Amino acid sequence: MEYHLDLDWNDFLQRYWQKRPVIIKHGFKNFIDPISPDELAGLAMESEVDSRLVSHQEGRWQVAHGPFVSYDHLDENNWSLLVQAVDHWHAPSSALMRPFRKLPDWRIDDLMISFSVPGGGVGPHLDQYDVFIIQGTGSRRWRVGEKVLMKQFCPHPDLLQVAPFDAIIDSEMEPGDILYIPPGFPHEGYSLENSLNYSVGLRAPNGRELLNGYADYVLAQELGHQRYSDPDIALREHPAEVLPQEAAILHQMVLELVQQPEHFQSWLGEFISQSRHELDIAPPEPPYQAGEIYDLLQQGECLQRLGGLRVLRIGEQCFVNGELISTEHLQAADALCQHFEVNADMLGEALNDPAFLSLLTALINSGYWYFND
Ligand code: SIN
Ligand code: CO
Repeated sequence: MEYHLDLDWNDFLQRYWQKRPVIIKHGFKNFIDPISPDELAGLAMESEVDSRLVSHQEGRWQVAHGPFVSYDHLDENNWSLLVQAVDHWHAPSSALMRPFRKLPDWRIDDLMISFSVPGGGVGPHLDQYDVFIIQGTGSRRWRVGEKVLMKQFCPHPDLLQVAPFDAIIDSEMEPGDILYIPPGFPHEGYSLENSLNYSVGLRAPNGRELLNGYADYVLAQELGHQRYSDPDIALREHPAEVLPQEAAILHQMVLELVQQPEHFQSWLGEFISQSRHELDIAPPEPPYQAGEIYDLLQQGECLQRLGGLRVLRIGEQCFVNGELISTEHLQAADALCQHFEVNADMLGEALNDPAFLSLLTALINSGYWYFND
């Protein structure tokens, strides 16, 4: 299934992206759900899948975490089942993320899907990331407020909410409508009937995460051996004082560690190509021989990328799930980055190089790509 998003991206980026929330009415025409509520409920019974049930009764909120063994205890109203990273576990659902590739892959995180019965929702809250919420089957009333400083509180230890807010958007969404919300705008959605919602979530690291990630790399690579030295040390009156020029040298030592473009790029590729959610890795058993892969591709078989696998390119380097793939065949590596499905044509001459074929074999035997039967 291929989804076509009816959106003027230039206009959207200029007017709304990271600026204002907006409803894209009928973004998907004749919308067909890629998953059923039963299938979603089934996924939330699996131990690897991250899911939660949020319910409320007279202002009291409850949160339960999956995997769930049964749903028999649930009422007809006021609950919502939310499943994270469904694109990792359910290939048809991941098709819903493709139209958003006008935004870069590295900014796109996962597809969260919720099923809500009437009155169901997670309450008024803020998110730190941009999100596109697609209405599937059913309808849901969404309210979005102005971005102002709001105090967050926990009505339940696992639920972060904000106080009621005035709406700048208040709308009943229908199948195929899309609500875009930039970070920090309070919002809440309440189902009017049984309803599926698809949230394409984005990601954006903060400085702390970057520095923390880079520090791990510095340790792993054993960088930063140079030690502070002061052959011209100054005599001082005040022994407790760190002199400004001393602080400046120490500062410079930190900056120099970060200011190494090659190291920075290697680290960034590894860091940014890691998924934040578990992957459904199932290495083929028995593993493939390189020759078999060559033959299958030549026979016209396609290789499918594992759902949620991050394959990114920085300059001339390509990274897969936190690792640099070293190859001289940039064009073939680029095809692996660009396309979710690759065939022999896309890989081209590289297939005739045993080194590339062996790299491809390793990727397939790791479960990162698989043949579509
Ligand atoms: C949802 O309930 O489907 C989305 C929750 C959210 O607003 O992040
Ligand atoms: Co939200």
